[in-house]
Amino acid sequence: MNIPKAFSREHVEANSGREHQPFREFLRSGEPYRSMLEHNPWLQPPDLSQPLAFGVGRYWDTTTARAHPFWRDYDLPLATQDIHRLRRDFVQWGYCLIQDGLSPSQCDAFLCRLHEQAEGERLAGVQQDTPYGQYVNTLINKGPMFAGCITQDPEYVQAGPLIEQLIHDTLGPGWICHSFLANGADPGGYPQGLHIDQGPLAPWLTEQAPALVNTMYIPQAVNDRNGGTLLIPGSHNKLIAAGSGGKVGKLPPTINLEADAGTIMIFDGRLLHGTGANRTDRRRFVATMSNVKPWMRTQENWVISTAPDVLANASPKLLHRLGLQALTYGSTVEGFGLSARGRVGDPWGAIRQFRDAIDQGSYERVRMLSPESSQQDLNRPYTVAQAMTAAKKAPLTEPGS
Ligand SMILES: [Fe+2]
Repeated sequence: MNIPKAFSREHVEANSGREHQPFREFLRSGEPYRSMLEHNPWLQPPDLSQPLAFGVGRYWDTTTARAHPFWRDYDLPLATQDIHRLRRDFVQWGYCLIQDGLSPSQCDAFLCRLHEQAEGERLAGVQQDTPYGQYVNTLINKGPMFAGCITQDPEYVQAGPLIEQLIHDTLGPGWICHSFLANGADPGGYPQGLHIDQGPLAPWLTEQAPALVNTMYIPQAVNDRNGGTLLIPGSHNKLIAAGSGGKVGKLPPTINLEADAGTIMIFDGRLLHGTGANRTDRRRFVATMSNVKPWMRTQENWVISTAPDVLANASPKLLHRLGLQALTYGSTVEGFGLSARGRVGDPWGAIRQFRDAIDQGSYERVRMLSPESSQQDLNRPYTVAQAMTAAKKAPLTEPGS
């Protein structure tokens, strides 16, 4: 083959030195973590091959805001049901605490299911251990309350409408669920490295608003003894001030989150946080459901992992939250979903039918076709054609989202 020299690997490589790559410096800056660790060496994660050291001023060796000499006089978030206070706390401190977001009975059922599931997964040999504790992933398949939380159904999470509004405020309409898993902090476990949940976007920081918002379900009391989440209150503002690719200066100290059972914490995807070290003899569970813009790739690939019976019973709202509602910039299947706006129930973005076809072993993808194709190939029951036919017949069932 006579390929032009300009396309040869040698020519491309010879002309692709660092000085030629326009975005290299930004993309490889390692920010905000590089400067964060440089200016705050006490934030270096622990050496997992060594016992965890206390008394040496590291980020996990802290206490609650109330007891902290640096933080105790600050007006940090306290659990409340006042939506205005929640919004103010979220903007100022990067997190807010919803008091009794789960009712006592919702809370008990939630926690009991997590413990049962964790034990069952261990017995089945499918437990997911981390240096911090046992995780329980993909909660949607593991109890009806979890699907209920994903749609903020008040039957399972009494603060549902309030949570939903606060996320609408922040991510804009149409947001979807990124993942929903339970984080165990086990006795003697290590603390997690402090991180921001929208870290994969780094070095972009989305200075004007977060691109990810997390909701943490706290089904048991947490504190400085049992691995209460480590936070640096207001750290999102320090990162925002540094800007995308900018350098972060000295940061204030961490606290352990202190909250009663039933509290729900909503936090900004740019807030520095991590699981705390549990110094009690009992596992501590919280569960995190993060949420992202609808075109973003989700952490949990719900389209594959959601169980068929869960999908069969899923409301249009749940399908949307799971990313099974395609829109122009996300999750189209063979082009089906292009031009859809991602509204709940929009038949032009209903991709569940493709997953159903996979489950039934009947998915027919459009492959190479030409005027010479056989009649058999031209007449196959193509799933995308069936989807378009169904969309043409179906009315828009549910407006907005
Ligand atoms: Fe996190």
